[in-house]
Amino acid sequence: MPKTPAAPTPEQLKALFRAARSARPRAHAPYSNFLVGAAVLDERGRVHGGCNVENAAYPQGLCAEASALAAMVLAGGKRARAVAVVAASPLLTTPCGGCRQKIAEFAGPDCAVYVLGPRGVRRTFTLGELLPFGFGEGHLPADPRR
Ligand code: THU
Repeated sequence: MPKTPAAPTPEQLKALFRAARSARPRAHAPYSNFLVGAAVLDERGRVHGGCNVENAAYPQGLCAEASALAAMVLAGGKRARAVAVVAASPLLTTPCGGCRQKIAEFAGPDCAVYVLGPRGVRRTFTLGELLPFGFGEGHLPADPRR
């Protein structure tokens, strides 16, 4: 996994949290009624928001983290320096297993993942804590036939 660049500034974090918070009410979550907002800070200091987008065919739904990562990729972002997730739940809304893997495609194990509730940051994790021993491109052979 390639290295994650320098830690975000307080201003960047503020923008990251604001983007995640403002994405949440845009969620399309008529089946779960569980609205989630997320945001990703890219290697150029830009912030990309996302929300969950559910579907009547339930497995086709998209998590907020996945839609924020897609927005980053669309904007030309290459690396995730930090991720924020916001939901309103008594339990911490940590990214699901699939989203941990999706974040790992663009971030190293020291990438910060901020879990927010309605009143702000509840807990901060590193991606390495959330996804120990993750699978990555380094596992794939250079020769695609092997
Ligand atoms: N969800 C997210 O968008 N992100 C998370 O970190 C956890 C779960 C969504 C998926 C689904 O639309 C709803 O929350 C309930 O699982």
